[in-house]
Amino acid sequence: MIVLPDADGLRRAAELLRAGSVVAFPTETVYGLGADAFSEAAVAEIYRLKNRPSWNPLIVHVADVPAARKLAASWPAVADELAARFWPGPLTLVVRRADHVPEVGAKTGGTIAIRIPAHEVALKLLEAAGIPLAAPSANKSESISPTTASHVMRSLPDVPLVLDGGPASWGIESTVVDVTGAVPRLLRPGALPLRDIRDVTGKLQLPDDVADGSARPSPGMSKRHYAPRARLVLTPEISDVPDNAGVLTYVDRPGAEVLSADPREYAADLYAALHRLDDRGVATIIVQAPPETEEWLAVRDRLSRAAAS
Ligand code: TXA
Ligand code: MG
Repeated sequence: MIVLPDADGLRRAAELLRAGSVVAFPTETVYGLGADAFSEAAVAEIYRLKNRPSWNPLIVHVADVPAARKLAASWPAVADELAARFWPGPLTLVVRRADHVPEVGAKTGGTIAIRIPAHEVALKLLEAAGIPLAAPSANKSESISPTTASHVMRSLPDVPLVLDGGPASWGIESTVVDVTGAVPRLLRPGALPLRDIRDVTGKLQLPDDVADGSARPSPGMSKRHYAPRARLVLTPEISDVPDNAGVLTYVDRPGAEVLSADPREYAADLYAALHRLDDRGVATIIVQAPPETEEWLAVRDRLSRAAAS
């Protein structure tokens, strides 16, 4: 059921979470499917509803930096600097997990992924529930992430409650950075641009093949992911378009889904556009490949994964 995030909606959502159930909620990136991070049964319900592979660990959402530090065995200076600059915001930090904190879903070899979401409703929910919330994107595993409450309902009709916070402003998942080593390492390109991160860290280690989908530095980076129902084809040049195909591009073209030529605006609309094309029932989605520049890295990453068969 979709519920407004007023006082009553937030109270009901917090009650469900404290009782070990799951709730979908808006964040600035995509909608998350939240559960008590310390409850093994609640976390298991996330995996069941999403049909998520058991090897893929979850991000834990907290309301402030002290709550994040409580989950960590150590909190390097660079984590402090990144948190001060970008939290609340679309950055996830992977740190060593504190001994008293249980594994959140999949085994991670002693690390934990944490972020503070920059969304009023998410922050109010965290405050009302009073517990860290494990939350992956609120969609079936491998399919397109939800940027609206109705996307969540369509993908996961069995979720008892979805807080409606309107469309997600970033529209693409957080950037995931591992700060357990000497040099911070990118695990997943995402909403926060790499140049912003380098402004703080100086160096940032990149997996060589981060953009082509063959690397799997983070367990969640499986090759096929973020996929619509239709077959997705990435092409540098769009020529002949079959009748049962839809087109997604960033340059004017009649009959096509035309997104912005600005990478941030494009990312904000991408998943909604893929949902719309799927709703039209097309067999194929032909996507004009975005430029090979770093600003487009996260978008290229998601599109190449969606295209992988
Ligand atoms: O923007 C987001 O990050 C959204 C919203 C809801 O916060 N969440 C999200 O979660 O995208 P999910 O589960 O779809 O992706 C989590 C990513 C996966 O690639 C997973 O493998 C990685 O984070 N991850 C989680 N814990 C990790 C860990 N301990 N070490 C390395 N990667 C980890
Ligand atoms: Mg996901």
